[in-house]
Formats: sequence, structure tokens, C-alpha cells
Amino acid sequence: MYSEKVMDHFANPRNVGEIENADGIGEVGNAKCGDIMKIYLKIDGEIITDVKFKTFGCGAAVATSSMATEMIKGKTVDEALLLTNKAVVEALDGLPAAKIHCSVLAEEAVKSAVADYYKRNDIDKEIPGFKGGCIECDDHHGHGEE
Ligand code: FES
Repeated sequence: MYSEKVMDHFANPRNVGEIENADGIGEVGNAKCGDIMKIYLKIDGEIITDVKFKTFGCGAAVATSSMATEMIKGKTVDEALLLTNKAVVEALDGLPAAKIHCSVLAEEAVKSAVADYYKRNDIDKEIPGFKGGCIECDDHHGHGEE
């Protein structure tokens, strides 16, 4: 049911961990399952020189985040914002339909980390499609409220 690439990124996730003195940190929760994703970005000029992630999420969330971090490393911030969960899923040779929502976590976490970077640097730029906070619900103020 899972592709070889998904299994590989799940078994050997790339870029797991934290970055000390990160330039942007994003944390998002998935309202569908309650899972949480945190992404750390190191940004030099416009380039994402390093990225790490941590998740309390399922295997599909681990695999998509691992792939997403590989796809944005070395890219510009603007390029990273164009990364869609669809592109990540395609790069992994697909996910079962019931697990597509897991891939949204990585895309949103990247956007959330860039939003944090913009905020810290007084950069007044919009992030298209980014709502902040929880995904697929209207609770933008925190997690765990059932
Ligand atoms: Fe929650 Fe996959 S079930 S991220």
C-alpha cells in the first residue's frame, strides 16, 4: 500500500532534529488526527541552507516531511513557498488517499516557519494560502482543545 520511497523515507528519515539558532521555526497541528509538526529553517540571504524537522505524527507524516525538507534545502525562501503537498506526494510516488491529509502538515509547517522568519526580520510579505495554526479547522490559537 505504501511506495518504496515512502517506506525508505519512513525508515530513514532525512533531516530529523532541531537547529540551534534557527532563523525561522514553524509548528502546525493537524486537526484531523491531532498530530504535530515542527520545522526549523536556517536562512542565509535568501537561501535555505539547512532544515530540520520533528514530528509527533504518523509514518506518512514522517515520510512527507523528510521528502519536503530534502526538496527545499538549498532553495530560496520563495521557491520553498511554492512547494505543495501534492508535489511532495508525487515525489514519493503517491500516498493512499486516506493519508493525503498527513502530507499537508509538512507544507503548512514550511509556510509557518517562513512566516516566523518574516516576522523576526520585519519582512512584510504575504504567504499565499497560509492560515497559520491548525489545519482544516478554525482553531488558530492552539491545540488540544476538543
Ligand atoms: Fe496524523 Fe498522519 S495520521 S499526520
